[in-house]
Amino acid sequence: MLRTHTCDELRKTHAQQHVTLAGWVHAIRTHGTVTFIDLRDRYGITQLVFTTPIRVQKETVIQITGRVEEKTVPNKALSTGEVEVHVETHKILSKANPLPFDENATEETRMKYRYLDLRATEKQHKLIERARIIRILRAYLDEQGFIELETPQLGKSTPEGSRDYLVPSRTQPGTFYALPQSPQLFKQLFMIAGMDKYYQVARCFRDEDLRKDRQPEFTQLDIEMSFVEQEDVMELIENLTKHLWKEYYGKELLPFRRLTYEEAMRTYGSDKPDTRFALHLTDVTTIAHKTPFAVFTNAEYVTALKVPRQLSRKEIEALTDCAKIHHAQGLAWTHTTAEGLEGGIGKFLTEHAQEIKTAMDATQDETILFVADEKRTAQNALGAVRSALGEQLGLMSDTHAFLWVTDFPMFEYSEEEQRYVAAHHPFTMPVVGSAQELVGADKKTLTSYAYDLVLNGSEIAGGSIRIHDTQIQQEVFTLLGIRKEEAQERFGFFLEALTYGTPPHGGLAWGLDRLITIMLGGSSIRDVIAFPKNKEAQDVMLAAPSGVREEQLTELNLSFRQEQ
Ligand code: AMO
Ligand code: AMP
Repeated sequence: MLRTHTCDELRKTHAQQHVTLAGWVHAIRTHGTVTFIDLRDRYGITQLVFTTPIRVQKETVIQITGRVEEKTVPNKALSTGEVEVHVETHKILSKANPLPFDENATEETRMKYRYLDLRATEKQHKLIERARIIRILRAYLDEQGFIELETPQLGKSTPEGSRDYLVPSRTQPGTFYALPQSPQLFKQLFMIAGMDKYYQVARCFRDEDLRKDRQPEFTQLDIEMSFVEQEDVMELIENLTKHLWKEYYGKELLPFRRLTYEEAMRTYGSDKPDTRFALHLTDVTTIAHKTPFAVFTNAEYVTALKVPRQLSRKEIEALTDCAKIHHAQGLAWTHTTAEGLEGGIGKFLTEHAQEIKTAMDATQDETILFVADEKRTAQNALGAVRSALGEQLGLMSDTHAFLWVTDFPMFEYSEEEQRYVAAHHPFTMPVVGSAQELVGADKKTLTSYAYDLVLNGSEIAGGSIRIHDTQIQQEVFTLLGIRKEEAQERFGFFLEALTYGTPPHGGLAWGLDRLITIMLGGSSIRDVIAFPKNKEAQDVMLAAPSGVREEQLTELNLSFRQEQ
């Protein structure tokens, strides 16, 4: 037996027992002829006492036998602090070289040596808690009659609309698999197959620009149900979340707030608002159009935000930069006084000062910020300013603010592609009574049975009710400008499947990495992923992606295009 106890097991009750321990040399202290070693493993630390000289490097793996002795002065910082082990024999199991980094190491170095970084208790803790959270979620879904089913990784482009990761085929030269952006179509096929309730802890792959809360491969808790309406899915998810909070924190959650997409945009300037703080946007277009300020009168929409103190010029400048990054042309401001509005654009608003103050529920010594633009641009830009202020002014309360956002638009205009694309994906059910209503429908106003779950300003889950009627599906493709042949080529197998008897169905997918990051109080999803990728989508430890051998390319019938 390599050990009789872990490094977190020994207590006063073990005094005088002979034990065998194994672990890493965490710390070494020498006092005269006595050496103290803190021995560490995943579970904890136990103090060892050597009365014969020992020379070891930190992080060496050793095994000892010895006698447990009660300490006269317990070390309260350790759970094993009542005892120490007086070592009788010791063996070096694996010698450690000096570690290639210390506590000041850069993020890149930590990623290269992720396995060493993970030796830190708080880093290990995140992965251990991740497993615990997933276990609670699985247990609940199992109990509710959901079946965990796996789906292929080597497949074909899925409808989420990000860039695919492609895998060249050796057996069919010149063809490629796509790694799944989600199991979307497979889970719908499970419903057609009659599986009724499905879930999967599923790995998804998306080749997109990376941010703090995005990784090229990430994990979803993917769910689909048959014979359900939107309310049924939302109820299940809310109950699942409540169960998780109860099990994990011992806390009861209140029913989740709900906002439509339109309300969220109008009140918060975001479709994933952080409702931990109460700053609200107000639509002041009607009043603004009456003022002599040309910026306002020329704009489609004017939105305003009241900040509960007088911001300085410098603060306003920084916020203006933030608004501009989010495509606003500027950020107008004024201060409130007992009499009216002063400073900034106050001079243009004199005649309407009271009206604006009433609309904004303003008093004095506050700042009002305005963005005038096309509606969504104005809302988005001031929403970004609102988020920045929430951080800067420390307005966030220490809560978990859940929010459902519903009634998403069916389509959104893509500047990049210069056309309307599906806001969620093209298999989402539009809010219409029949396929007929879709013929020539207004793409700008059509909404869908799509819903997102937001936690503290982060989109942690998203889903929809799906189309189960081939005619509706056909009309949606038509509205998207996807030709019949193209739809056939991309999703033909699926469109055919829809024709053999499809139950009404819907579901949703959680971004598990995001959920767990927020639950553990972190700021980057990398911390809860065992081996994450860096901003350039590289695994710096593996040095992946990497070149491949010429033979491999030949086998795949691939060659690199020569630059002219
Ligand atoms: P969607 O594309 O909204 O929906 O993805 C669901 C959830 O996955 C998380 N997520 C990500 N997390 C980390 N890194 C990424 N790159 C990343 N991209 C998305 C988000 C998001 O809410 N098939 C549909 C779901 C459905 O309709 O059932 C889908 O994939 O938290
Ligand atoms: P100007 O008249 O360009 O000097 O702008 C006066 C103020 O209005 C400045 O504080 C600008 O940042 C602001 N501003 C300009 N365009 C807009 C806009 N579209 N929305 C809100 N404020 C704006």
